[in-house]
Amino acid sequence: MTRPLVVLGGSGDLTGRFLLPGLAELDDAGELADDQTVLAVGRHDGSDDDYRSWAREQLGEHADHVPEESRARLVGRLGYQQGSVTEADDLRRALERAGGVPVVYLALPNTVFRDTLEALGQVGLPEGAAVAVEKPFGTGVEDARELNAVLHRLLPEDAVHRVDHFTATQTVLNLLGLRFANRLFEPVWNAGHVERVDIVFDETLGLEGRAGYYDTAGALRDMLQNHLLQQLALVAMEPPAAIDGPSLAARRADVLRAVRPPADMARDTLRARYTAGTVAGRELPDYTAEEGVDPDRGTETYAEYTVTIDNWRWAGVPFRLRSGKALGADRQEMVIRFKPVPHLAFGDGAAEPDVLRLTFDPDGVSLELNLNGAGDPFDLERRALALELPTRRLSAYGLLLRELLAGNRVLSVSAAEAEESWRIVEPILAAWAAGEVPLREYPAGSDGPVPG
Ligand SMILES: NC(=O)c1ccc[n+]([C@@H]2O[C@H](COP(=O)([O-])OP(=O)(O)OC[C@H]3O[C@@H](n4cnc5c(N)ncnc54)[C@H](OP(=O)(O)O)[C@@H]3O)[C@@H](O)[C@H]2O)c1
Repeated sequence: MTRPLVVLGGSGDLTGRFLLPGLAELDDAGELADDQTVLAVGRHDGSDDDYRSWAREQLGEHADHVPEESRARLVGRLGYQQGSVTEADDLRRALERAGGVPVVYLALPNTVFRDTLEALGQVGLPEGAAVAVEKPFGTGVEDARELNAVLHRLLPEDAVHRVDHFTATQTVLNLLGLRFANRLFEPVWNAGHVERVDIVFDETLGLEGRAGYYDTAGALRDMLQNHLLQQLALVAMEPPAAIDGPSLAARRADVLRAVRPPADMARDTLRARYTAGTVAGRELPDYTAEEGVDPDRGTETYAEYTVTIDNWRWAGVPFRLRSGKALGADRQEMVIRFKPVPHLAFGDGAAEPDVLRLTFDPDGVSLELNLNGAGDPFDLERRALALELPTRRLSAYGLLLRELLAGNRVLSVSAAEAEESWRIVEPILAAWAAGEVPLREYPAGSDGPVPG
């Protein structure tokens, strides 16, 4: 029998913006079983009909790429139950109503993850049930460990799905194909040939009214503790035996364990926040003047750090991770820069080393090479073999939900990865909190802070 999906936090922003559209895409693709139901749980009063109207609006706003009839079909599968997710009795009622063996999705603020899981523990879940937990998973190593312990009292690890939707993006998945389905790259994918790796997620978007969450998180916790470290793990991991949940999770955890936190915090990390400026013709105020921001928190809107990986393959290669808001351009890519050739036989002309880029939005791959010039054949010219990929039918959340409902963990983050990711960033957070690294500023619309 198909497992019902129970979304705790089913009236929140994530549900409206990503989960409902993802489910509508699945319905449209014929990938939802006829008897698939979705029960949303939220705190406020409301009937099924009220919830369906809200869902219809959300789908109109965020899923207009899905045909109307598929959206309507999804709305017909939805139900709503009022209740507090931290109260066992309320959860029991919701699970009884959902019936069967549920897949429970915690689309909740991470401050209530633990109490919710404890309450679920009091109710108990039937064999075969699964739980998905959103990010950020915990607030540090110890907290992630405790959260894992609570989860493992409830369910076996293979029924737990820690969500990081970047693992389901086309660009990140492409890395697997590129690396492990081609002969070309793997022999040069190591410290002998790679000079450095940059993992960048620069956004032009500013705070966009999300101070409630963002001002207590900041760029490091929001992006570099999870999404960007997952990308690092996929760039740097050893080849897996199979593209399945256990194989990928083991290889990624292995490489995360080998990541050494920045050696010199003042040199290897950078934090900053934006000041007033213009981004793509739009005036943005100072971050500190945004509604809901407490300037005294010193929250960074830009974070950067460089780490190395202590293993045979990567010893000495810097991996630089950076992400910021309100920057001049949306630059979102994984960049692998190769070493220069050992000898250049082209007179005194210099040649840039080869660069492989995997870019997001538009998703693509490009390999920048030196070729003989079209004019003088003995001159070098820089050319790129560039490919822009067509938009995938399923969004990242559509794909995540498909795998989750099928009980497949290929896109899920493991307990060890969640803990290791905190181990890497905790010393940075501590150094920043202790004032060892100054909080710099950069004007909105610029390239970001200038180090030094
Ligand atoms: N929004 C995004 O773009 C996004 C992207 C990636 C990941 N995430 C993650 O997704 C999770 C949810 O984020 P969000 O943006 O959707 O937050 P949100 O808009 O604040 O929604 C939170 C939901 O949780 C419910 N809730 C909170 N406490 C509750 C309680 N004690 N009992 C019952 N329901 C409770 C709220 O119900 P009421 O409305 O009834 O209070 C609401 O439905 C977070 O972990 C976030 O980090 C969000």
